[in-house]
Amino acid sequence: MSTPDATPPAPGKAPAKDPWDLPDVSGLVVGVLGGTGPQGKGLAHRLARAGQKVIIGSRAAERARAAAEELGYGVEGADNAETARRSDIVIVAVPWDGHGKTLE
Ligand SMILES: NC(=O)c1ccc[n+]([C@@H]2O[C@H](COP(=O)([O-])OP(=O)(O)OC[C@H]3O[C@@H](n4cnc5c(N)ncnc54)[C@H](OP(=O)(O)O)[C@@H]3O)[C@@H](O)[C@H]2O)c1
Repeated sequence: MSTPDATPPAPGKAPAKDPWDLPDVSGLVVGVLGGTGPQGKGLAHRLARAGQKVIIGSRAAERARAAAEELGYGVEGADNAETARRSDIVIVAVPWDGHGKTLE
């Protein structure tokens, strides 16, 4: 849906998107690798509260499950590999030094 009388974009600029034209992502599962830390847990909390299905990942499934239980809103916890397998979108919320090994 676009507004018929929207201001035309400036030359060389892409037209502004109407939020209603964006794809519906409400059915996607979001995995948060390293979601036991403050950054990942904060994102998981806000996404889940907004109605998104969220899985928290950790190097230790038990830590992920404990963090998920703490958050509520249907958040689940699993180890990072299972979280990635079950997710449509993955947020990597681990310290930079751990990115390479985690993504492998
Ligand atoms: N905190 C903030 O305010 C903030 C703001 C902006 C950006 N960031 C960025 O967001 C990312 C996460 O921040 P954070 O403060 O939540 O970090 P963190 O608490 O240090 O780490 C998050 C989680 O990553 C896992 N982890 C730690 N070291 C790891 C390693 N070497 N390999 C794989 N996993 C490891 C741990 O989970 P498990 O032990 O359960 O696996 C930990 O709970 C970082 O890249 C940071 O720079 C943070």
